[in-house]
Amino acid sequence: MNFSKFFSRQARKPSGLFGRLISSQIFEKGNAELNDLMFEALGRCDDERILEIGFGPGKLIQEIADRSDPAMIEGIDFSKPMLDIAAKKNRIHIQNGKVRLHLGDFDTAPFDGKGFDKIFTVNTVYFWKNPESTVSRISGLLRPGGRIFIGLHEKKEMEKLPLDRDVFQYYSMEELKELLWVHGSFTDIEIRSKPGKKRISYCAVGTRPEA
Ligand SMILES: C[S@@+](CC[C@H](N)C(=O)[O-])C[C@H]1O[C@@H](n2cnc3c(N)ncnc32)[C@H](O)[C@@H]1O
Repeated sequence: MNFSKFFSRQARKPSGLFGRLISSQIFEKGNAELNDLMFEALGRCDDERILEIGFGPGKLIQEIADRSDPAMIEGIDFSKPMLDIAAKKNRIHIQNGKVRLHLGDFDTAPFDGKGFDKIFTVNTVYFWKNPESTVSRISGLLRPGGRIFIGLHEKKEMEKLPLDRDVFQYYSMEELKELLWVHGSFTDIEIRSKPGKKRISYCAVGTRPEA
């Protein structure tokens, strides 16, 4: 396996020592600007029930739990090394019942209880095997009026990176908006952006229709 394929697979699902030691560092440092934009876009989350899909090292969850007083922040990630790192980082919040982390694949994992107020995900949309069904699953897990936040970098900038296109699927902002519109899953879609040192960070926000 060449390095591009190996690295791309690790980005999708970190594993082993490389995942534990290297991928986690790359996510924390390399994805910091995009995660900062997400933190701003999400705003305060007091009394809200929120979910992050693919939390990686769990820094964004920690920052939200530090800043806000949510009813519950849940996270799901299918990488055991990421779960271990994120659980360590959020130990106090988990003990206090503010954060709950799950090991599993978002596409198939069961979620109980009332709908989420916000569901967010950063740098994972590239890996969705069946994007329409993932979008409609997210919509179904939100309460009516609840919002989705998708953090990503844009197709043109991602195409410059030496990543494996069998693993990574890129989106222009128009394509992402269209995906969120599919079957009326989301309305009021807006794109927020922030320039960074190397590339622009984007966050797509959509609202689950009330009826
Ligand atoms: C590129 S990393 C991004 C991590 C973090 N969100 C960030 O921006 O730094 C993608 C993460 O999403 C997780 N992931 C990807 N697809 C997933 C799925 N279907 N269900 C659960 N976790 C998933 C991976 O295990 C990995 O930790």
